[in-house]
Amino acid sequence: MAVVSFQPLEPTMRGRVPAPQHRARIVRVGLLGLGNVGQAVVRALQASNDVLQARGLSFRVHAALVRNPERPRRCPPVPRITNDSDAFLRGRYDVVIEALGGTDPARMLVARLLGRGVAVVSANKALVAAHGDSLHRIARRRRAPFRYEASALAGVPFIGPFARRPLVGSLTGITGILNGTTNYVLTSVARDGVAVAEALRRAQELGLAEPDSALDMSGRDAADKLVLLLRECAGIAIDAASLEVSGLDSVEAPDLAAARALGGTIKPLVHARIHDAVRAFVGPAFVPAQHPLAAVDGALNGVCLDSRFIPGLFLSGPGAGPDITAATILDDAAEIAGERDLAERETWRTPSAMLPLRPADTPWFVRVASLNLKQVISILCDVGIAATRSIAGQEPCVLTSPADRARIDLAVAKFGAAGAGATSALRAIGDS
Ligand SMILES: NC(=O)c1ccc[n+]([C@@H]2O[C@H](COP(=O)([O-])OP(=O)(O)OC[C@H]3O[C@@H](n4cnc5c(N)ncnc54)[C@H](OP(=O)(O)O)[C@@H]3O)[C@@H](O)[C@H]2O)c1
Repeated sequence: MAVVSFQPLEPTMRGRVPAPQHRARIVRVGLLGLGNVGQAVVRALQASNDVLQARGLSFRVHAALVRNPERPRRCPPVPRITNDSDAFLRGRYDVVIEALGGTDPARMLVARLLGRGVAVVSANKALVAAHGDSLHRIARRRRAPFRYEASALAGVPFIGPFARRPLVGSLTGITGILNGTTNYVLTSVARDGVAVAEALRRAQELGLAEPDSALDMSGRDAADKLVLLLRECAGIAIDAASLEVSGLDSVEAPDLAAARALGGTIKPLVHARIHDAVRAFVGPAFVPAQHPLAAVDGALNGVCLDSRFIPGLFLSGPGAGPDITAATILDDAAEIAGERDLAERETWRTPSAMLPLRPADTPWFVRVASLNLKQVISILCDVGIAATRSIAGQEPCVLTSPADRARIDLAVAKFGAAGAGATSALRAIGDS
């Protein structure tokens, strides 16, 4: 007679063993938006069915809200596609995935869903940066989970752990590359010597940049992500409107060549130092070759995080892409659906404390046409800035001692008065 013995599963094995189909819990999903990300979510649900079933979950998409229901979609069929937000809101959902983009009508719809106690997952950094605090207040009041792991570094899930862990979450600094489009553009300029506009055109041809990439190129997209990371990972709110944000229009191909000669490169950075105030900037900046972010090329993203207790954390990976974003969104949704005591988990998120924003003091990368190196160093010296590294030539370039923007602007005005041609002045960071 055959004997079959059953052994209890080791805790670590539980997630790997497919649960019987009949035990999978149905999770009713609503989709706000069925564009690049929304369609990728529907495709990913089909592709990941076995993985989710193994967690005892069976996701069913019930409805999607769009602008134009007639538009053909590249995903398995969704039972109900509507452009009537009231009709969408009348549906019953366990979790709603917000993939509309922008702040309106996303804010109103997410607020209404959370207000009804419905869990919401979003990848919308603009929404979370602008309205995260008020949406979290509603979520806490109604004990409704609200997650958005995919809204920054979509392929590197780290926001949740930082928000829930007080020691690693005691951040003193964030420096990162949070926008893949601008990183791709600057990498192309550095590698091929093409102009920024030409590198952007290539990125658009390859589908790596939106046809309208104004939010990326102006630095606004990265600024939203910095505001979001400060809130989520450090519990700090800043006045986002006062943040120093510069776009890629301040960079020219010769800057990349000069940066290489000075032992580094130029990257689209977000940078914040946190003490009793936050000193921050967003924009293209000189990065020394030894810094981990100098090697983050193409459309990749990366972030260096320093906390009081754990300094020097470096995370890197794909920052966007519909399929990657969809996977992280679904992990958020699966985490919510699989958690027993949701309200308990949500209390880890603390309200953010407002800190003043002060001008950042950083070294600068300066390239000046039509003056010689001696003139450049002498003018810098006049305004109290020292040169720490320099290269002579037709367009001398210099790395400086730390200074705020007002002082470097004064030096640039003096270069102009002395007969300088085009001058680049970009912020710089140190080795680590
Ligand atoms: N794409 C990425 O790789 C990526 C990565 C990370 C995060 N995200 C974020 O994900 C979100 C969605 O991005 P996406 O690339 O999927 O955008 P998208 O392709 O433009 O899709 C937006 C969707 O929302 C619908 N929509 C927009 N405004 C609407 C309105 N007022 N009423 C009803 N429906 C409306 C659109 O309907 P129609 O289809 O009918 O026009 C479309 O289905 C954004 O917040 C973005 O920042 C995107």
